[in-house]
Amino acid sequence: MKKVAMTKRGALFALSVVTICGLLGIVPRSAQAQTTAKAEHADAQAARNDSASAAKIENGKKLFTNDGCYECHGHMAQGGTGPRLGPDPIPFSAFLQYVRHPAGSMPPFTSKVVSDAEFADIYAFISSLPQPPKAKDIPLLNQ
Ligand code: HEC
Repeated sequence: MKKVAMTKRGALFALSVVTICGLLGIVPRSAQAQTTAKAEHADAQAARNDSASAAKIENGKKLFTNDGCYECHGHMAQGGTGPRLGPDPIPFSAFLQYVRHPAGSMPPFTSKVVSDAEFADIYAFISSLPQPPKAKDIPLLNQ
């Protein structure tokens, strides 16, 4: 009976040590080193992704002009004869479906003319466009 009480107290002690360490932010060194290494890895990965997506956006911008999208949708995809496409474009699957098989007056773009990968870059460009200013941030509209 007494032995059981001791183990319980031991377990309680271990538990409180863990809790206090947790509260004080004390983490064993190896775990800390692992977290730092992981964070550095994630940073490097993010930097690689950033430059990859920057290249995609840049290429998409060129394609948007060279493939003639701008003629109807405007240079910044803001809309013209065709509707505004971005920022916040429709999902990529719907986007791709539309450009391959448009339902209205837009001409179709087959994969012989523009590949899926090229459309992905165009989509990256459209997604990267800055948000237009809010009406309350335009002084002329607030007089
Ligand atoms: C000749 C004019 C014209 C050109 C060139 C053109 N579009 Fe369009 N696009 C339109 C019009 C007009 C619509 C509206 C629906 C319709 O009438 O087909 C449209 C609709 C779209 C839509 C659907 C938008 C939505 O919200 O449903 C997408 C996506 C799109 N265009 C992408 C493109 C891309 C990308 C290119 C270049 C590869 C391009 N368009 C070139 C005229 C054009």
